[in-house]
Order: sequence, then C-alpha cells, then structure tokens
Amino acid sequence: MSYVIAFYGTKDGQGVTTTALSMAAELARQHSVLFVDADMSGTGTAVDQLQLDPAGRGMNNLIGSRAITAHDLLREAVATRIPRLGLVPGLIAVCGSAVARLAAQLREGHALVVPGVEFVVCDFGAIAHPELRSLRQAAAAIATVGHRVFCVVRDDPPLLARSIQVLRAAAPPKTELLLVETRRGALRRDFQQTLQLRLPEVAVAGVIPWDPSRAMTAHDGGRPLELGLARDLEVVERAEPVLAQVRAGVERVS
Ligand SMILES: Nc1ncnc2c1ncn2[C@@H]1O[C@H](COP(=O)(O)OP(=O)(O)OP(=O)(O)O)[C@@H](O)[C@H]1O
Ligand SMILES: [Mg+2]
Repeated sequence: MSYVIAFYGTKDGQGVTTTALSMAAELARQHSVLFVDADMSGTGTAVDQLQLDPAGRGMNNLIGSRAITAHDLLREAVATRIPRLGLVPGLIAVCGSAVARLAAQLREGHALVVPGVEFVVCDFGAIAHPELRSLRQAAAAIATVGHRVFCVVRDDPPLLARSIQVLRAAAPPKTELLLVETRRGALRRDFQQTLQLRLPEVAVAGVIPWDPSRAMTAHDGGRPLELGLARDLEVVERAEPVLAQVRAGVERVS
C-alpha cells in the first residue's frame, strides 16, 4: 500500500501543481514518491514545471473506460532529476473524464497501491472544471483515494469568494485547506471566520506565502518550490502506519 496525498483546487491557477510538486519533492528527500498529474483539464503542467520530456508517456495513455493499475502508472512514469521522485505526466491537449470517473478507474485497478512506492502524490487539478454539476461527486471521489486531501486556495478576495461557494457546493469530505497568502496573512482571520460560519467541517491546515520571485526562480530552473509543507503538516508522522506496511511488503518480497 502507498500513502496517497491528493491535491485539488476550486478554480484554475491558484498554485495546486506548484504546491503538490513541492510536497512531493520534499518527501522524496527520504522516501520513494510517485507524482501523478491527474488534472483532467487537458493541460497537464507538472512536466513543464520540472522541464521534463514526457516522451509520449502519461495520462493520455490511461484515460478511458478500463481500470488503471499500479503497473500502468509505473509504465507511464518518467524519471525526474530528483532522486526517488517519479512522475506520471498529465494530459496534453486532450480533456479527460470527470474526476469521479478517473477515481473509479484508479480504485478499480488498485492503481495507487504501487509496489515499492511509499508516497503517491496526486494532482487532481481544479474540480470546478469538467462537468461542473458534479462538484460533490468529484470531492467525494478524491476523498476515497487520498489518505490526506489538500485543497489549495488563494486569498485574492474574488478568488476566495468563489472558492467558498465551490467548497460549499462540493461539501468535501476529508479536505484540509492550504491558503496561499498574497497579503501576508491580512485576510486569514476573516477567511477562517467565514469558513467557520459557512463550512465548519473544513479548516485551514496550513498557509503558503505567495512569493512570485521565488516561484519564478524555481520554474526557471525546472525545480520545485521549497515550501516545507510536509514538515509543517506532519505528513510523514501521520503516514507512519502505512509506511510500516510498505516496508513490511518490501521485506516480504526480498
Ligand atoms: N506560492 C506561490 N508563490 C508565487 N507564485 C506561485 C505560487 N504557487 C504558484 N505560483 C504561480 O502561480 C501560477 C499557477 O501555478 P500552478 O500551475 O501551480 O497552479 P494550478 O492551480 O496548478 O493551475 P492549473 O489549474 O492551471 O493547473 C504559476 O505561474 C506559478 O508560478
Ligand atoms: Mg495545475
């Protein structure tokens, strides 16, 4: 079994891929990690952020109706320049299926139980994208595949207002919010109060500074942005029971 960390957004371009790649790279310092670019909007960007050649591999070869297996994911993965981090490229120039359908394919083929991989980091992109009417289904489906589920939202007031609406419509189980702050925390208290009032079951688990110059430097170098989120969110500590099973599995095989 791999420990699955799912990321999604409420609306495009709020930093989901950047944040998910950052966590994957941080985990890969000590663990085996597979990043799955499962954004179904047809513009997978993880390979671009790491400046990798997908070499014809990726989700383009997996979407459809059949179950997706762990073997399929490993076959479609490319190596990155980061040791212990593999990546399944996202869709290129083709829109995928609804998130709920993709999650069903992944579950059916036990795709996210990847032999030898301790963490699978899955970027599902913005759920308010394909098949708008199925927000609730999409959020529920993501929760069925992820041990932890993070939703990245940015604090520009117009974005935040829509994010709250989308989240209310999605009623997402398991979701922990990561708030990307462009205003040095000025809106944090207001946002948290609004959440408490409108969506008491979802809380802000972590904050990320919006730092265009660091993001630009990272993207220019094809490197993930360093955010230290896995440490702050105690990802490894909470994954320990599952990691112990992965280690036991490896011992059984060897
Ligand atoms: N913490 C940050 N600080 C500054 N800029 C950021 C940060 N995170 C992301 N960005 C910038 O925001 C833009 C969008 O980021 P990213 O592609 O990660 O978003 P996304 O939510 O995955 O978008 P999409 O929905 O298109 O997949 C990029 O230009 C990226 O450099
Ligand atoms: Mg993205």
